[in-house]
Formats: sequence, C-alpha cells, structure tokens
Amino acid sequence: MQSNWLGRDIISIRDFTRKDIELVLAEAKRIKPNPDTLRGRVVASLFFEPSTRTQLSFGSAIERLGGQVIGFSSGDVSSKAKGETLADTIGVVKGYADAIVIRHPKEGSARLAADVSNVPVINAGDGANQHPTQTLLDLYSIEKSLGKIDGLSIGLVGDLRFGRTVHSLASALTRFSKVKLRLISPDILKFPPHLIDELRGVVEFNEQEELDLRGLDVVYVTRIQKERFGVIEEYEKVKGAYVINSKTVEQLSTKAIILHPLPRVDEIHTEVDQLPQAKYFEQAENGIPVRMALLKLILLGEGR
Ligand code: NCD
Repeated sequence: MQSNWLGRDIISIRDFTRKDIELVLAEAKRIKPNPDTLRGRVVASLFFEPSTRTQLSFGSAIERLGGQVIGFSSGDVSSKAKGETLADTIGVVKGYADAIVIRHPKEGSARLAADVSNVPVINAGDGANQHPTQTLLDLYSIEKSLGKIDGLSIGLVGDLRFGRTVHSLASALTRFSKVKLRLISPDILKFPPHLIDELRGVVEFNEQEELDLRGLDVVYVTRIQKERFGVIEEYEKVKGAYVINSKTVEQLSTKAIILHPLPRVDEIHTEVDQLPQAKYFEQAENGIPVRMALLKLILLGEGR
C-alpha cells in the first residue's frame, strides 16, 4: 500500500485505506481554485469511451488549478483507429504530460497504462471494473449531505453486474464501520461473486430484486449498462427494470438522499428532480473539488 501521494497512481479504490479516503475528502473540502497551484503542468485526458461528467470535470478541475489539458475524447480520433496498442499510446503520451487520466472499455487497461507509464495514471473507468474517482466524489457527496458514512444504510439499485461505479463504491464502503448494504437488482444483474466475497464478513448486506427502499439513508441508482451486454436480448429483458418516481420516493424519509452517477436513461423520473432527496446534480458538481484535490495530491504531494 502506497502512503506517499506524490506520483501515486489511482487505479482501484482497493488501493485506498480509510485514512487515504478521509485525506482526499478533507482536501476537497478545503481546496479553492487557484491558477498558481498547477501552473505549467500538463495533464493528458485519454477517453476511449464516451463521457460527459468525468471528462469535463477533470478538465475543469485542471484548468481551475492553472494546469493545461491535452487529449482526445474518442478512440476513433486517436491512433488506436490505426491499430496502435494501448501500451504504445501510453509509452508516447507519458512524454507529453505530467499525469494521465484514462477511460477505456477494457477491464485492467488503467493498470496496464500505469505499468507502462512513469507519470501517474488516474483510472477514469476501465470497463465494468473500477471507477475510483467517482467513488471518492460519491463518498464526498454522502458525507456532505449526511455528515457521516459510518452506520448508514445504503441501497445500490440497478445494474450491479456491469456498473463500475457500484463496484468501486461497495469496495470503499468496506473501509467504514457498521454500513448496511441493500443490493437491489434483477437476478441476472447481481454483483459478481468476487465482490460478494469481498463484502462477506466485513459489511452487512442482502441481495433482493424488489425495489423496497424503506429505511435507507442513501439510494444509489445506476443505469443498466446496455453497452456491456454481449447479447442485446438479455438487455431487453431487464431494461426499465426499476423506475424511481415520486411515488417510490414516498418510501424514504425527507432526510434520505438519492444519488446517481449519471447519465440516467429512465431509472429516475424527472419529477423526482425537484424533491429534497434528489442530490444527483449536486453530486456531479462535487466532481470538481474532489478531482482538484486528487490532482493536487498526486502532482504536488501531501501538505502543499
Ligand atoms: C458512469 C460511468 O461511466 O461508469 N458515469 C460517470 O462516470 N459519471 C455511469 C454510467 O455510465 O452509467
């Protein structure tokens, strides 16, 4: 486990201790835009998969700290389209930038990039595997709204099989105490067995199909990840499986919060947006301070 932040790769939330998580959240609370913080630094943003929030909030975070962004937002406009391997792309880009943010459809691609790169690599999502910076902003959002993470009852709803945000989040929650997880998904979209093994004995959890939200402090809704289904008929069977509307929200207390990494398709009705529990747009905004904090830590080190 690395303890020094300078030059650290951010690949999996499993590499984070509770102390690491708390340090990022504390730094995010404090950080202010300042054009001198990362002046002269260049960050490469390599998105081989679609993205709105992650890519733009990384870009915004870098620019608010005075750094500059280079990169691309589709594999089709990079040399991948000519057959270049990821290792070769990284081997070149590491000479152009002080850090690399990468999103790629293949699980393990961020780790591969970090093995090739001598500048720090940040995983902005690798296939159905991990999305550690999303998890940090999710935890920041929970703490900001509810003042704590320990002891909360958290429901994860939707695509628990392919959703990388819930994979990372569940791993992170093993670092906290007395968290109760309710895993709500169609049978074919349950958590992968390795994640269930990771939770067992550490976090109290149950798996169910029914959309019963009573007693939850946090409801974390996810999109069914259409692009990750091998067979489209399988997707057709589960699409629209859950829809949170204002009637569903009546199951929740007014203090409970609803999160979603976005984009949504139809799993949260727009009528919910006006309700006090709806926090997903604020959650997306929280990507800025959290990503500013993370970039500062890995580019300048702790205590700067
Ligand atoms: C998520 C992702 O890319 O995993 N979006 C995000 O980063 N905010 C969720 C999704 O695509 O459903």
